[in-house]
Amino acid sequence: MSETLILTPRWGTKDSHTLASYRRDGGYAALAKALAMAPSAIVDEVKASNLRGRGGAGFACGLKWTFLPKDVRPRYLTVNADESEPGTFKDRYIIEYDPHMLLEGIAIACYANDIHTAYIYIRGEFKRQAEILEVAIAEEYQAGILGPRLLGKLDFALDVHVHRGAGAYICGEESALLESLEGKKGYPRLKPPFPAVIGLYGKPTIINNVETIANVPWIVQHGGAAFAALGVGKSGGTRLFCVSGHVNRPGVYEKPVHYNLKRLIMEDCGGVLGGRQVKAVIPGGSSAPVLTGDEIDVSMEFDALKAVGTMAGSGGVIVMDDSTCMVRALSRISKFYADESCGQCTPCREGTPWMEGLLERIEHGLGVPGDVDKLAQMANNIGGQTICALGDAAAMPVQSFVKKFRAEFERHVTERRCPFGDHAWGKNQETREAVIGGVTAQV
Ligand SMILES: Cc1cc2nc3c(=O)[nH]c(=O)nc-3n(C[C@H](O)[C@H](O)[C@H](O)COP(=O)(O)O)c2cc1C
Repeated sequence: MSETLILTPRWGTKDSHTLASYRRDGGYAALAKALAMAPSAIVDEVKASNLRGRGGAGFACGLKWTFLPKDVRPRYLTVNADESEPGTFKDRYIIEYDPHMLLEGIAIACYANDIHTAYIYIRGEFKRQAEILEVAIAEEYQAGILGPRLLGKLDFALDVHVHRGAGAYICGEESALLESLEGKKGYPRLKPPFPAVIGLYGKPTIINNVETIANVPWIVQHGGAAFAALGVGKSGGTRLFCVSGHVNRPGVYEKPVHYNLKRLIMEDCGGVLGGRQVKAVIPGGSSAPVLTGDEIDVSMEFDALKAVGTMAGSGGVIVMDDSTCMVRALSRISKFYADESCGQCTPCREGTPWMEGLLERIEHGLGVPGDVDKLAQMANNIGGQTICALGDAAAMPVQSFVKKFRAEFERHVTERRCPFGDHAWGKNQETREAVIGGVTAQV
């Protein structure tokens, strides 16, 4: 398996975020090469690369670019730097360590698609990263890379703006992101029409994740076929896997897109803390269905993970050892989705706090027979019933945790206690009674 690294080689190098350092390491050669190519030839290279979106859905990047209507102008590029899916922490490092790689990718993507304005939508909490981007963009204007003449050569104007969000998970969903960018409340839009046809300010808009775009300079430099060869099947390249939880060496790992999950955990991350057993792994951010410890000997390629009933999502690998209470873990995840539901769709607005409350009740030994079925039923009534995929994101963990660890859920009910012991966050009596009491009254 190839050890080629695309995104991380310059991480940790002193001053890697500066234009001088990027140029020293060959930066902007790809843009120079791109500007000598026909725009359609660049799109063809990206299509040939089998680059799939790194933001969650794994959609083919080059194909998405071809959805732009031929005759409508202006068009926009929006880079999704919201990075809010729990367990995912890679885009922030691309921005911190190599902002010019992202900006070069933006410039190439804009030239290839005849786009003259790009926005980077970055989550509000990433103040430091937003400032790094602002400085990097200013450097590029000063150097004449951005502005009226792209790379100081071509009569092609390009402006790049950073827009900070206000800390809402929903604004990572592409159409909510567009609403937010337009200055409105981040409510997802009904699709179709898709943003490539009617997007920002009603104009055709490409939305891509930070990591997706950061791969574009390498693809132009080395060719789409070389990128495709690093992966397998319909998925090319390497990707950044963010590993958190009970491992000895958590962190961001750049590996071929089809790297083995077990190998990542047991070899690269040094195995489980204290030599314990892997009980469960969420392979693609907290919304991805959970795998049991004996299901992890699997390729992390998009279609391979789909085939085993989960998803590669945003590359957030969350490892849980055998000391983990699955009810408690799910309860924490469900709390997140209940907090972050935007409230537009009834099943998600009403269902997510119900699931959260029911889980609290089960976790604290107050569950009653039938609660576990009720929980699964609630999730089934949310999944697929909402405008955006936040409903699915909230439902899938519940469905998979209950399916794979049902006995543990039932045990909480029959023993009227958590077999792993009660937990500090449940000891806030006021909150606990408000949540549990509310659900007990309703269910
Ligand atoms: C609730 C929700 C939150 C999302 N959050 C993010 C995010 O933080 N970053 C991201 O890149 N994509 C996020 N996505 C996926 C985007 O909607 C979109 O698919 C992605 O930005 C497209 O880029 P890509 O094709 O390069 O992956 C989210 C989707 C949903 C449903």
